[in-house]
Amino acid sequence: MELPFSEPYRIKMVEAIHKSAREERERWIREANYNLFNLKSDRVFIDLLTDSGTGAMSDHQWASLMLGDESYAGARSYHTLKDTIREILGFDYFLPAHQGRAAENVLYSTIVRAGDVLPGNSHFDTTKGHIEFRGATALDCTIDEAADTRLEIPFKGNIDLAKLEKALEQHREKIPAVVLTVTNNTAGGQPVSMENIRGVSDLCRQYGVPLQMDSARFAENAYFIQTRERGYEHKTIKEIVREMFSRVDIMTMSAKKDAIVNMGGFVAFKSRELWEKCQMYCIMNEGFITYGGMSGRDMNALARGLDEGTERDYLESRVRQVAYLGAKLDEYGVPYQRPAGGHAIFVDATRVLPRVPREEFVAQTLGVELYLEAGIRGVEIGAIMADRDPLTRQNRYPALELLRLAIPRRTYTNNHIDVVAAALKNVRDRGETITRGYVITRESPIMRHFTVELAPAR
Ligand code: F0G
Repeated sequence: MELPFSEPYRIKMVEAIHKSAREERERWIREANYNLFNLKSDRVFIDLLTDSGTGAMSDHQWASLMLGDESYAGARSYHTLKDTIREILGFDYFLPAHQGRAAENVLYSTIVRAGDVLPGNSHFDTTKGHIEFRGATALDCTIDEAADTRLEIPFKGNIDLAKLEKALEQHREKIPAVVLTVTNNTAGGQPVSMENIRGVSDLCRQYGVPLQMDSARFAENAYFIQTRERGYEHKTIKEIVREMFSRVDIMTMSAKKDAIVNMGGFVAFKSRELWEKCQMYCIMNEGFITYGGMSGRDMNALARGLDEGTERDYLESRVRQVAYLGAKLDEYGVPYQRPAGGHAIFVDATRVLPRVPREEFVAQTLGVELYLEAGIRGVEIGAIMADRDPLTRQNRYPALELLRLAIPRRTYTNNHIDVVAAALKNVRDRGETITRGYVITRESPIMRHFTVELAPAR
């Protein structure tokens, strides 16, 4: 018989996690003001809040920490990372930053002005935050199909080229960059095809606008290109990655995802001139240009992670685990954004809790219910995260109310995934009986979801 699939690694170290009783969780979530970010992690059994910085480093990554060079300037570790970025990603210039949003800050401090427009495919929330904070607009040009959770298409993260061209025509002078996010996190960890990357890049060149790739999950995106796009099945992941970035002028990277480190990031450039312009903001906000907010040891682990994270066998086990959760949910009839994404499953909260009004935050309500059910923590991608409109201050209600269950890399087994699926089934089974959600009692003016406080609606 054909041998079943399994992970290309074994486990060398473990970390204990603890179950709890429902009564305890009721108290803890009340104390946390019904915001899952406010929970102590010891009070969570399976933590799917994020796949960011939560993966397991390899023995080689841990070993590389000991070889870190902590020199303030010109450290060996910087040059190791520089060589790896050139070799794997094809960028000659880069600035390290302590994480992805810091890389965005360095870049956008340099290129974004009030009144600017940055078209893209569902900008990530910190990206949008950095843009809106500067009085500019993040214009979403994602394909309409991304909003239909039931539709199975291979590249649901794509930009709609017609929408993009219209934006380029209308705002040409005010566009400092087009932002292409791979994979498209907000739309469900959905990939962008090479054909779409080419199309976006051609339009950018035609209109003389730089293309920025928000590359947090570029390797997962490359895996989907290899497995779903004609002509790429015989190319290696590393070849596909090089081709993706050959079309791009700037990349921002949260290394906490596909480079499998706990902290780190960078912004990389093809243009020496732009690299030089950005240096000031790196020095001012992050650190000198050869460490920018990272320790030497962390740059070593990041370099190694870029190599391991672009290996086919690892990526296959990674993406297959997410698909495994999707298949279990299919079996139990729990609806989610289809097809399963690269790093997470996005449960369609409105269809699990059809009676909760959208003004009472459906996906947040589902997140609280799943925590109460089994101590599992996901994150709301819905009206709380969508924030208020910066001008009218009215709540923005997105097309979808999703509960994201992000799977950390190399961290949980499929037994954990089985628990997650069963818990969701139980919530779904009593979904009709849940009729009320939550109201906001305190919120901050921007990116409110991190610190929002809620109370049960009455
Ligand atoms: N871009 C994307 C697509 C992201 O998903 C994230 C972070 C960032 C940029 C910012 O990077 O966290 O290193 O500052 N996403 C995490 C998540 C937080 O849970 O999806 P960062």
